Amino acid sequence: MNIAEIAEHLTRVGYIVLDAPLQKPLSDLLFARCQDDGSARFKAAKIGRGATQKHLSPLRGDMISWLDDTNSSDFVYLTWMEALRSGLNAALFLGLFDFESHYAIYGAGAGYAKHSDVLQGAKNRILSTVFYLNDDWQTSHGGELRLFEATGETIIATVNPSFGTMIIFLSESFPHEVLTAHRTRRSIAGWFRVRSS
Ligand code: OGA
Ligand code: MN
Repeated sequence: MNIAEIAEHLTRVGYIVLDAPLQKPLSDLLFARCQDDGSARFKAAKIGRGATQKHLSPLRGDMISWLDDTNSSDFVYLTWMEALRSGLNAALFLGLFDFESHYAIYGAGAGYAKHSDVLQGAKNRILSTVFYLNDDWQTSHGGELRLFEATGETIIATVNPSFGTMIIFLSESFPHEVLTAHRTRRSIAGWFRVRSS
């Protein structure tokens, strides 16, 4: 699917699930980067922002590591996302200004309770992206991403975090949750942002 088709689909539906948008060798490199080697590169994720940040593992159990454009694998991913950013801007006049992104590892037993990616007081996240890095993910492993319509009551999509799958969705329109994973679950979450006013 090309960027114009992605743009059209996002306009019509608000989210899109892509089967294997990246080349397998790149996905393999990203998988290799999404490993907690004990070097403290990965840290427990927090909820909220600034002084209100909370560390509430029952609500959010992942370990995260922000991408680093001086790393060659991260750089290739960020370059791909940059092409998507400029293509979506050209098609949709979204004014997307930058992209922030982190690796995430959910250990067995971890999930992420229903939330919005648009943080209180900071409405600059426009599009959310998640790229999954889990070979041979079975339904019994749990860990699905569930998207809800805006009021948060009705499920509109359930996505298996299977290797190579990417979802892109309008950050403000879809509350979502990560169901408890029963096996280690790896992904790259990211957000296209507009300049905050
Ligand atoms: C997030 C998030 C979803 C997923 O990191 O904000 O909702 O499927 N991730 O990993
Ligand atoms: Mn989220």
